[in-house]
Amino acid sequence: MHLKPVIAANWKLNHSPTDAKAFLQRFLAQSPKLNERTLIFFPSAITITTVIEGLRERPDVWVGVQNVHSEAQGAFTGENSVLMARDVGARVVLVGHSERRHVFGETDAITTKKMALIAQARLTAMLCVGETLEEREAGRTASVVERQLTAGLAELDDAQVASVMLAYEPVWAIGTGRTATPEDASEIHGVLRRALVSRVGEKVAAGIPILYGGSVNRGNASLLLAAADVDGLLVGGASLDADSWASIVRA
Ligand code: PGA
Repeated sequence: MHLKPVIAANWKLNHSPTDAKAFLQRFLAQSPKLNERTLIFFPSAITITTVIEGLRERPDVWVGVQNVHSEAQGAFTGENSVLMARDVGARVVLVGHSERRHVFGETDAITTKKMALIAQARLTAMLCVGETLEEREAGRTASVVERQLTAGLAELDDAQVASVMLAYEPVWAIGTGRTATPEDASEIHGVLRRALVSRVGEKVAAGIPILYGGSVNRGNASLLLAAADVDGLLVGGASLDADSWASIVRA
């Protein structure tokens, strides 16, 4: 099955509401509705309302949050909840991004809890997995991403797994200018696809998009997207400029 590619922009800690307005004006002027792509923006929680309002005429573009807390509510100063994300109009939640794992100490156990909360809220989770350079050099890439995938899906039933998206983001490729080759990406996407097949069967597994992320830019986007088993792109740095992003979504 060939899935409709999902092209997602992870703005990380960039773009204030004012920046986002200017970005959308420029981006929308050159990017009419694309039936053959699903586009997603992940702005900061402070910027998300501006992005959702700016895309009111473009229901084809999804908006998501970069993180939610692992508990539904309570005394967790500084955090955002999945129900708040849903209330504001977010449709997707990033989980287990490498910066959450490696900068903020998010463990597999935390991703398990977040994935369950997101599924209960009936939002789409985009679970990120990926190995460090050390793990790659030790030949542990497949086992690391399988472990992260198993933890992320641990508390979901098969119907909930069916609505998940995955992103393979090798840690050594994020923000470094070093990308995986299309062959490397295909190989690990194949590992993830096979793990999905054993969890939920061939048919459901074939419908789950697996995005590649890590130094994607307008120069390498189309080659990566054309690679076997790559169903989309998760783009950080190169999604911040409206012109660069407009050309990536057409890759
Ligand atoms: P990058 O980030 O494109 O800047 O490497 C990707 C990501 O972290 O999702």
